Amino acid sequence: MKIELRYFTGTGNSLKVLETCNTVFLESGNLTNISEISINETSIPDSDLLGFCFPVYAFGIPRICRKYLKRIERFRKQQKVFILITAGDSDESGFAVKECKNVLSKKNCEIVYTGIVRMPINWTTSPVPPFPPSKEEAIEIIKDGETQAQEIAKDILEGVRTYHDFNYPKRYSKVKFYWDYLLFKYLGIQNMWRLFEVYDSCNGCQLCAKICPTDSIKIINKKPVWSKTCEQCMRCVNFCPQELIYQTQGGSTKGRNKYREPSFKPRQQKKNFS
Ligand SMILES: Cc1cc2nc3c(=O)[nH]c(=O)nc-3n(C[C@H](O)[C@H](O)[C@H](O)COP(=O)(O)O)c2cc1C
Ligand code: SF4
Ligand code: SF4
Repeated sequence: MKIELRYFTGTGNSLKVLETCNTVFLESGNLTNISEISINETSIPDSDLLGFCFPVYAFGIPRICRKYLKRIERFRKQQKVFILITAGDSDESGFAVKECKNVLSKKNCEIVYTGIVRMPINWTTSPVPPFPPSKEEAIEIIKDGETQAQEIAKDILEGVRTYHDFNYPKRYSKVKFYWDYLLFKYLGIQNMWRLFEVYDSCNGCQLCAKICPTDSIKIINKKPVWSKTCEQCMRCVNFCPQELIYQTQGGSTKGRNKYREPSFKPRQQKKNFS
């Protein structure tokens, strides 16, 4: 079977889950191609199976994933698709699967599997708990996530159809759930880049700008400056070697648990900042 796989990731969880599936697919003799979503990719090569893995942000998928799915061309032949969502809490994936399904159903896709994989929380600047786990706790959560991803990949190959669609998170009232979802989707994500701050001791090393997956950071006068394309993926915050990035609503992140999937090495773009 030929399998195409696409992901978006801030801190490596969604890549880890899709790579784990990929290993199972390869071990079973399939031909696979795995790559990060790119807004310039408007058509995906024909395959027997197409899989997506995205994180959930405030009960929905990241804006860039929504945009990407909307942009890809309708498939000529009906395309079998699976959707996986990584979440800090399996009960709190909200509309993430539904949002993907809504777009893909207009693109001649047959959804064969949808699932949520719990991975460590990476929202370091969140003003309220839950915060990222300790390194030790994270390792345990990742181990369980990998096991779950392996089982999912086997099920997919065996044609087992399982569907996760939507459920109200238990610890939220319906009002609070919709408030958070709609606020982030229609107001938060457009404006939260404005909340980023950096301490004066930043030495302008440029790492945050080089690794940002949406190219939303410029170094100006040797300090990072954020822009509106930011997806709040938390990569810059969790990778800054000096823990100097924070957001005004959450306060300093110095000394707080940071999170990135330990094997994740983001690509560094060449930059020429003055
Ligand atoms: C801005 C933001 C919002 C988040 N919202 C949720 C959420 O609503 N529900 C949830 O279970 N996890 C939430 N998380 C946690 C991530 O979904 C989780 O850590 C995910 O695995 C990160 O994947 P990545 O490493 O591929 O970026 C959020 C994380 C961020 C940064
Ligand atoms: S990674 Fe940290 S130290 Fe380096 S430029 Fe960015 S904020 Fe400054
Ligand atoms: S600026 Fe930081 S949080 Fe925003 S998309 Fe880039 S790396 Fe992610």
